[in-house]
Amino acid sequence: MPISSYVLLPREPSLREAPDLEGEAGTEAPAVTSVAVTAELFAVPFAADLAPEVELPLPTAELLAHYEAKGEAGEIVEVPVAVGEAVGRVLLYGIGDGSAAALRKAGAAVARRGSGRDAIRVVLPEGPVAAFVEGALLATYTFRIGEAKATPVARIEFVGEGAEAEVARGEVIASAVAFARDLANTPSSIKTPDWLAERAVEHVLAGTGTGTANGSRVGASVRDEAALRSGRFGGLLAVGQGSVSPPRLIELSYRPEGATRHVVLVGKGITFDTGGLSLKPTEGMKFMKTDMAGGAAVIAVMGALASLDVPVRVTGLIAAAENSFSGTAQRPSDVITQYGGRTVEVLNTDAEGRLVMADALAYADAELDPDVVVDIATLTGAISVALGKGLGAIFASDDGLAAELTGAGESSGERLWRMPLIEDYVPALRSSVADLANIEAGSTYGAGSITAALFLREFTGGRPWAHLDIAGVGRSGADEGVLSKGATGYGVRLLLEWLSSRPA
Ligand code: BES
Ligand code: MN
Ligand code: ZN
Repeated sequence: MPISSYVLLPREPSLREAPDLEGEAGTEAPAVTSVAVTAELFAVPFAADLAPEVELPLPTAELLAHYEAKGEAGEIVEVPVAVGEAVGRVLLYGIGDGSAAALRKAGAAVARRGSGRDAIRVVLPEGPVAAFVEGALLATYTFRIGEAKATPVARIEFVGEGAEAEVARGEVIASAVAFARDLANTPSSIKTPDWLAERAVEHVLAGTGTGTANGSRVGASVRDEAALRSGRFGGLLAVGQGSVSPPRLIELSYRPEGATRHVVLVGKGITFDTGGLSLKPTEGMKFMKTDMAGGAAVIAVMGALASLDVPVRVTGLIAAAENSFSGTAQRPSDVITQYGGRTVEVLNTDAEGRLVMADALAYADAELDPDVVVDIATLTGAISVALGKGLGAIFASDDGLAAELTGAGESSGERLWRMPLIEDYVPALRSSVADLANIEAGSTYGAGSITAALFLREFTGGRPWAHLDIAGVGRSGADEGVLSKGATGYGVRLLLEWLSSRPA
């Protein structure tokens, strides 16, 4: 159970309000202005211009002034109260400007304060409640192999009226992110390409359990090694040839009624990246079980589309292979033939992501006739040098698409920064023996993330395309806010936000 369970409870008005209603027969009952404290850990929103809706042992204004509370998102003031015979605490939580970003942060702070408890009861704020619920549930994510690890707080009881749809949406999104994290956190001894394909198929065919998911709108197929060979997917085969666990191309489809546009999502699914014969040092290799984080995001997104009633047709492709070091591995200087016939000189076997992605991108262009292609990949270590661990990179062939995705990143809390596709750097990928080289041979041009993106662009057939490099943001080093140590599930929230707002 990776995130807390939750329930939505109706608001209970404060019992202390009741006498006000007496003797007023014939007149309208006054609006209930406070809620009753009904749990030992009871959280209530407040902001600079919003008094908490709960009666406290001291005047709230003086209490807040005493704590110098400003009502910022993530801020929490604890006040001891009596709950029946027991001692409890009211947590006054700041909601800042009430934006989705602020509520997400507030939700995470409240849930984290519930750590070690069986339950915490939380009065929902006004506004984008889905973001609040998403933040609260994601902050409770944990991962452990074998016996389930207890979530920091077992159960969150949300209190609110008319918030069912928003709460459900927050839960669907948080569950999708948690699923992507689970896949990426799973050790590669378990997570072979075939295992990943099985999980993907199982996941999308099951829907995510809520909403209107139904089997007829979703489909899944997997190309095994033989199918990849007959389809001439030379990039996937070359990268996978060093491993005892053969590669797979996973194809997931979602076709809502009435859709006219088609989006293709492509995810990098390297189940472990040793670097191949261009072997990584220990430090660089130890986190490489998460080198399928882009593919995990695509699988999780595909599984949530039906529940969120996304109007547009979406196909998800996950290029899955293990980049192993062995006697059957490809060699630096090998020349491979990508799907579609282009030849590539493999100068560095550690630049494997672009080889598997190129096959999937070329296949999408040749066979799926997409209106838009978005790929997501832990592609280059260089991108975390440029942008750090807080921002994902977007490269795009189309300004409108870049703006849409960047906007979705802002509102979903997964920020993107646009990077340039510099035409002057295209010659970096020239090869004397093949159509392209997979890395720049020398260091005339530099900018490893840009040349990697330029390599991918070669296979997009000139269609509107965006590439998200998530090598920096795919892993978190600490439990903080909505993130937990390990895989972040980055891209799930932003892609779901973007797809939800796309025209059919
Ligand atoms: N999977 C790595 C990129 C990566 C690095 C992801 C750190 C997450 C954290 C990718 O396959 C890779 O090895 N890229 C090389 C490219 C180089 C050989 C041109 C890199 O970044 O060093
Ligand atoms: Mn690599
Ligand atoms: Zn890699």
